[in-house]
Amino acid sequence: MPYVLGIDIGTSGTKTALFDENGKTISSSLNEYKLYQPRIGWAEQDPQDWWKAVILGIRTVLSESGIIPEKIKAIGLSGQMHGLVMLDKQLRILRPSIIWCDQRTNEECIDITEIVGKQRLIEITANPALTGFTASKIIWVKKHEPEIYEKAYKILLPKDYIRFMLTGEFATEVSDASGMQLLDIAKRNWSSEMLSKLQIDVNLLGKVYESQEITGKINKYAAELTGLKEDTLVVGGAGDQAAGAIGNGIVKSGMVSSTIGTSRVVFAYTDKAVIDRKGRVHTFCYAIPNTWHVMGVTQSAGLSLKWFRDNFCNYEKESANLIGTDIYEFLNKEASMSKPGCEGLIYLPYLMGERTPHLDPLARGVFFGLTSRHKKNDMLRAIMEGVGYSLKDCMDVINEMGINSNQVRASGGGGKSHLWRQIQADMFNTEVTTVNSNEGPSLGAAILALVGIGQYSSVREACDNIIYNISSQKPIYDNSILYNRYHSIYKGIYKCLKPQFNNISNISNFLN
Ligand code: XUL
Repeated sequence: MPYVLGIDIGTSGTKTALFDENGKTISSSLNEYKLYQPRIGWAEQDPQDWWKAVILGIRTVLSESGIIPEKIKAIGLSGQMHGLVMLDKQLRILRPSIIWCDQRTNEECIDITEIVGKQRLIEITANPALTGFTASKIIWVKKHEPEIYEKAYKILLPKDYIRFMLTGEFATEVSDASGMQLLDIAKRNWSSEMLSKLQIDVNLLGKVYESQEITGKINKYAAELTGLKEDTLVVGGAGDQAAGAIGNGIVKSGMVSSTIGTSRVVFAYTDKAVIDRKGRVHTFCYAIPNTWHVMGVTQSAGLSLKWFRDNFCNYEKESANLIGTDIYEFLNKEASMSKPGCEGLIYLPYLMGERTPHLDPLARGVFFGLTSRHKKNDMLRAIMEGVGYSLKDCMDVINEMGINSNQVRASGGGGKSHLWRQIQADMFNTEVTTVNSNEGPSLGAAILALVGIGQYSSVREACDNIIYNISSQKPIYDNSILYNRYHSIYKGIYKCLKPQFNNISNISNFLN
């Protein structure tokens, strides 16, 4: 029986998981590392920390599973998207990686928009210039650290740096490369127009593969460090969102996933490169040949609940500890004691600005409609509903683009909450299900590896065999009607407050 590894280079840690040919988890290991924030709005990581976590993860799953390395036939890589890794000619890391949530490149986004043209940028890359994306980070280094840029020999994404360490190859694949904003999304290859307009040498970039293609083999050096067999195959893999969607079995039209982690993503499969001309959602190449995906992002989803937990829920933390239950289960119970709509209390989850639909880094979190009757459980439920309204915003844009959803698969930490899933079912007015595995991106990467070695003839065939629904929640009619009415108020609140978000940031100048 062949085994495969799925390795996900996340923001808080790297998850390494070993799977059998049926996608069953044999062993997994999570190894954490630091996020550095040298200035407000900046976010950096050390690529060597990722590499150390990968070595430790592979060694751990090998020893815990007892599976001999000869039986591991391939590795699939997944990872946080958009991060910038620069290597010099001696293949040394030139500076810490500027990662996806770094917000320093506002000016560079304006420059890119001027140079390429707003509409042309969306036509080629399917997105407006965004601070999160890699292109603006490259331009930032060029402008602010020219001595470093001059030494750059290769530019890689986080998981592609790990690929380089494992195989010595400079390569990427379509789904993650889409988030660099240098790819022609329809043609699934580097855009010569983007590169020449931004004066970025194509030789700095890796070769672009489809996600299931084999991109290299484990070299002697990596084999010695990890304990894997030399020549083990490494397939393209996918950016974490696409890999997570494969791990949720999103492989057909009408299938949508909603993943609540720190951020929250509504992810829809499409077999055409449909683009929102206003750029409110991202269209990226999907990890299945000739398909794309559309993705709406809520910046602070799980983060909103975590923020509330950490600042206002000491009593709940202690009580959960005392009875030996998970704090989030405790919070869910409290929130479920409040009624749908929280008697008119509405939360805007913009703790870290917002991507979809506002693309507004200055937006801020808001509790609106507080009265003296409201209690902590109402605030908790309002947070869950506020994230839900934001998700509904994403879904509305996706539906406006002609992509329909007849089933939503919920996943991520937030997907474990029965209440949060019901809120989504009611707000989307669609069935919300969960699937048999919650390994997400590492399972998706492993599925791509299984397809790469020919165990399955396609990603669809693999998903049809491996992933199935285990729970389903239907919308409750009265709640759907109520949430619909509140959603239009929620949208109105942002419109009213937008000028004040700008004013407040002028005073506190929070980005600098
Ligand atoms: C996707 C995105 C995040 C990162 C980190 O556009 O920014 O999902 O990949 O998880």
